[in-house]
Formats: sequence, C-alpha cells, structure tokens
Amino acid sequence: MADPISEAKAQEATQNYAFRNATLEDIPALSSMIENSLRGLGKDHYSQLELDGSIGFLFGPDTLLINDNTYFILHPVASPSVICACGGWSFRKTLYGADTAPGRMPEKRNPEKDRASIRAIFTHPEWARRGLGTMMMRYCEGKARGGGFQRLEMGATLSGVALYEKCGYTRSGKNDVVKCPNGEGIRIVHMIKDLEADS
Ligand SMILES: CC(C)(COP(=O)(O)OP(=O)(O)OC[C@H]1O[C@@H](n2cnc3c(N)ncnc32)[C@H](O)[C@@H]1OP(=O)(O)O)[C@@H](O)C(=O)NCCC(=O)NCCS
Repeated sequence: MADPISEAKAQEATQNYAFRNATLEDIPALSSMIENSLRGLGKDHYSQLELDGSIGFLFGPDTLLINDNTYFILHPVASPSVICACGGWSFRKTLYGADTAPGRMPEKRNPEKDRASIRAIFTHPEWARRGLGTMMMRYCEGKARGGGFQRLEMGATLSGVALYEKCGYTRSGKNDVVKCPNGEGIRIVHMIKDLEADS
C-alpha cells in the first residue's frame, strides 16, 4: 500500500511541475543532473569512491529509453528546460543502468508473463523531498500499465529504497553488486510491486 502523506505531497506538486518526454538533446543535461543527484542525495549510502566509479558508468542516461519515449523529465510548469527530476519505465529486458553499464538486454519483455521495469529515478537535490520522486513513480507506473503491464520490478540504488518502499515496493531478496572500472562494487536491491494490489 502506498504512503498517504507522500501521495498528498506528490498530488500538491502536480500544481507546480509538469512532465515532458526526454529527448536526445537532453542527454548532456541529464548526465549532469544525475551526477548532482547522486553526489548530493546518494552520499549517505555510497562512498566517494563508489560514486566516482559508478557515475557515468553504471549511472547515467539510457538512450534506448529516450528513443522508446519511456523516459521523462519533471520541470517547473513555466520552465521546460529545467530538470528537477527524471525517471522512466521500460519494456526492455535491461533491469537498470546507463548505456555504458554491463548487462544490457534490449530484447522486449512480454506483458503477459514478465514484469516491466521502473528505471533511473533521480531528483535534483534542490528539489528533494517535495514529492517529485513519488510523482515520477506514479507517472511511470501509469505508463507501464498503459503498456499492458500489471507487475513491476526495479534494481534500486540503496538511496532509492526508502522512496520505493513508500510507493509500495518490497524487496524480492535478490541483490546485485555491480563492479565498476575503478574496482568499487555498487550494491543494487531488487524490488517488486504488483499494480493490481494498489489500484
Ligand atoms: C530517491 C529519490 C529519487 C527521492 O526523490 P524525492 O523527490 O526526494 O522523493 P519524494 O519527495 O517523493 O519522497 C517521498 C518519500 O520517500 C521517502 N524518502 C525520499 N528520500 C528519502 C531519503 N533520502 N531518506 C529517507 N526517506 C526518503 C520519504 O518517506 C519521503 O517522504 P517525506 O519527504 O514526506 O518524508 C532522490 O533522493 C534521489 O534522487 N536520490 C539519489 C539518486 C537515487 O538513488 N535514485 C534512485 C535510483 S534507482
């Protein structure tokens, strides 16, 4: 069950922020926003070396999602070029990670038997804790549902787990450690949610 206070905050945020599809022209700004997000909001969960090794390798934009029109930007209503938060969903088999990350699987999932994935949700530190992460989650879940999927999964960063638990996701028990070029290992938590239970 989703948390009612987080839901109310996200509902309030809909007055001031709007969604648009990310485009290929957004990639440089998205890369820098994702770096700012992790360095500002991920530092209690990952060491400096882990962040240095993973940003631009494991963490960054996934061009395939942008081309699929399944990656979105949340911006102030009057300023579409300002990226306050970004995130997406996917019908591709890749569970997480940027273009450069290991384990890319562009094959399509089957909505009748597979889960869709929630992908790369990031809020800029300046806009944290205003409900934008929750608003993005709701939007992506709605889009995945529109794509025919009733069940979702994600490879969550440790810094994302609190948000996802508030949104009704639970840990499946599976975890990954992704080895970065500088030798650091990034812990990723597999989480799942069945949309039927929350609609
Ligand atoms: C995780 C993240 C996207 C949350 O974004 P956000 O816009 O701040 O999320 P919301 O404002 O919707 O938060 C909703 C609820 O989630 C929980 N939550 C969010 N961030 C939290 C944090 N840092 N610590 C504890 N709880 C947190 C809280 O319960 C929060 O409600 P509250 O603010 O009323 O207490 C953001 O912190 C972030 O970008 N982190 C770094 C990148 C990252 O790890 N992304 C996940 C990739 S899988």
